[in-house]
Amino acid sequence: MSRTALHLGAAFYPEHWPEERWPEDIHLMREAGLTVVRMGEFAWSSLEPSSGEFHFEWLERAISLLADTGILTVLGTPTAAPPAWLTQAYPEIFAVDEYGRRAQHGNRCHYCVNSPAFHAAAVRIVSAMAQRFGANPNVIGWQLDNEYNRVCYCDRCRRLFQEYLACKYGALDELNRRWTTAYWSQTYSSWEQIPIPVGQHNPGLMLEFKRFVTESYRKFQRLQLDALRPHLRPDVWVTHNFMGWYNGYDHYVMSEELDLASWDWYVGSGHNDYLKSGAAHELVRGFKRRKFWLMETQPGCVNWSPVNNALNRGEARAMAWHAVAHGADAVLYWQWRPALNGQEQYHGSLVDQSGQPRPFYEEVRRLGEEFAGLAGLLEGSVLAPARVAILNCYESRWSIEWQPHHRDFDYVAHLLHYYRPIAARNVPVEIVSADAPLKDYRLVIAPALLIMTETRVAELKNFVARGGRLILTLRCGMKDEYNALLPSRQPGPLAELAGVEVEEYYALAEEVPVKGNWFSGVSRLWAERLKKRENSYTTPIARYGPSNGWLDEQLAITVNAWRTGLVYYVGAYLDDAAQQAFIDRVLLVAGIRPILEAPPGVEVRKLVKAEGGEEIFVVINHTTTEQGINLPWPAREHLSGFTIKGDVRLAPYGVIVLTRTGDT
Ligand code: GAL
Repeated sequence: MSRTALHLGAAFYPEHWPEERWPEDIHLMREAGLTVVRMGEFAWSSLEPSSGEFHFEWLERAISLLADTGILTVLGTPTAAPPAWLTQAYPEIFAVDEYGRRAQHGNRCHYCVNSPAFHAAAVRIVSAMAQRFGANPNVIGWQLDNEYNRVCYCDRCRRLFQEYLACKYGALDELNRRWTTAYWSQTYSSWEQIPIPVGQHNPGLMLEFKRFVTESYRKFQRLQLDALRPHLRPDVWVTHNFMGWYNGYDHYVMSEELDLASWDWYVGSGHNDYLKSGAAHELVRGFKRRKFWLMETQPGCVNWSPVNNALNRGEARAMAWHAVAHGADAVLYWQWRPALNGQEQYHGSLVDQSGQPRPFYEEVRRLGEEFAGLAGLLEGSVLAPARVAILNCYESRWSIEWQPHHRDFDYVAHLLHYYRPIAARNVPVEIVSADAPLKDYRLVIAPALLIMTETRVAELKNFVARGGRLILTLRCGMKDEYNALLPSRQPGPLAELAGVEVEEYYALAEEVPVKGNWFSGVSRLWAERLKKRENSYTTPIARYGPSNGWLDEQLAITVNAWRTGLVYYVGAYLDDAAQQAFIDRVLLVAGIRPILEAPPGVEVRKLVKAEGGEEIFVVINHTTTEQGINLPWPAREHLSGFTIKGDVRLAPYGVIVLTRTGDT
């Protein structure tokens, strides 16, 4: 049986190279310890050079040559790159942008996701590939398309959007009421009048259009799944390579029908910020609430950022282990070798344009050895369960992005403002859908959970009633699922839990002092003036200092005992030091401890073997200087094979992987 943990790989495009070269490439892959390649995701014109004429032999030969040296294949369906013969025959396949301009041939994702001609062609190629490769023992998984991203504004999409609305709302009166269309005389008297929003528009309309885009991609994905699945061997999985925090559609909806979540992680300019990337890994792990694949990552440099600097020597290795420590079962570099022409000539790769290994190849080779050595240990492991969850909601995010009220208010940055101080303490945390069940957590944070639904309210209430700790932050509970303001003060239906309501919210031009019971600092960007509700047990945690007059001495942060739980309401957007102090105390009170104490920049994560429950600790020094940690118990270090205890030194970008050998 092939391993399921610690795959190392690259995106390989054999169609760019003469076949005589493949054996040399494959030999170099083997030498580097690669165990998997992804192929085919842009190869439509090579797989089907004219309508219905399939050329699969070359791909079959590549799969089998790779398999001869033990390298497995993930196949991409090539639909992100519809070929020229297809777009020429059916120009309506080209997507239309918001200014009415049709996409051109020669880039990618140039399709209208709702085009019937495109659907027919996509189903045909995917079905043919499925029939040819679905039973191939060396194809272990499939990636659908590549980084879905285009939004189409063509007349067909508009008509389908109107049909979607008619189906959802049933009657125009209902839509007009939910969207308050009497405002600026937007009232619709026929479905055909409803536009696709371009730029700022009615918030209700804008939210429905995002849902429609999600639904369009979901249906397109479903077509491919239906074409593929009947032909796949059991255990062959299907995924899509998402783009981390990309906001184009609801990723929870898109992940539902996939077997596995995967994503493409690029640093771009500069260096890895491990708390930021850690959050992105948690996000993707949260799509299916289990381990994932890192389908693409940066080998040295990219070609698309303002400064395409290389990652430091050792940095990518630390990043690979970081991904594994957050639940990646595979790390694949993009790409193996740069094509001699085409748009990505300067992108980093493992071998260069001449076909020789780049200096970076050595780092991958080291990883190859390490992954091979530790695959058995990591096989069947899962992330140690987290007691802390941060709720993520695409709809709240979109709504805030459209009306940030403060230019610098960013939904994801605000969510990370809560993730960072927890992850920096090496406390495991999950990022999950705002509609996920909460019963396994002790502390739940709802950052700017603007849109409140009845089911969310019920789940949050249950969670607190059972003794959970809940942090509601600014902008929580302000709107309904139609993106309309709730006719109540924030946090709307959660005000009873919070024991406070928001009397006023302020976008801040200047920082406002905040004096807390155990910290002091400032609020930036945003401040909400809280008012204690009658008969609540709310305790003040922080007040605003003198500022705009309205906020002076007013409540900024509170905590309320509700049933057996605690509910914090945070109306301030604290500076980083105050936020850390606030979060540290919340964790302490909740009895949530770090996995291990470690200095800043040193990350500790824990995996657990599903069988037997053996704990595996991954410790990574993300800094460029030597660091030390104190191990409270003796351990076996699996990369070196040594037994260690007490003070342990970690080189810059150093990694150790430990299992305990005793208690003290
Ligand atoms: C990804 C894409 C790859 C490649 C890479 C370059 O977004 O999926 O095909 O273009 O970027 O960084």
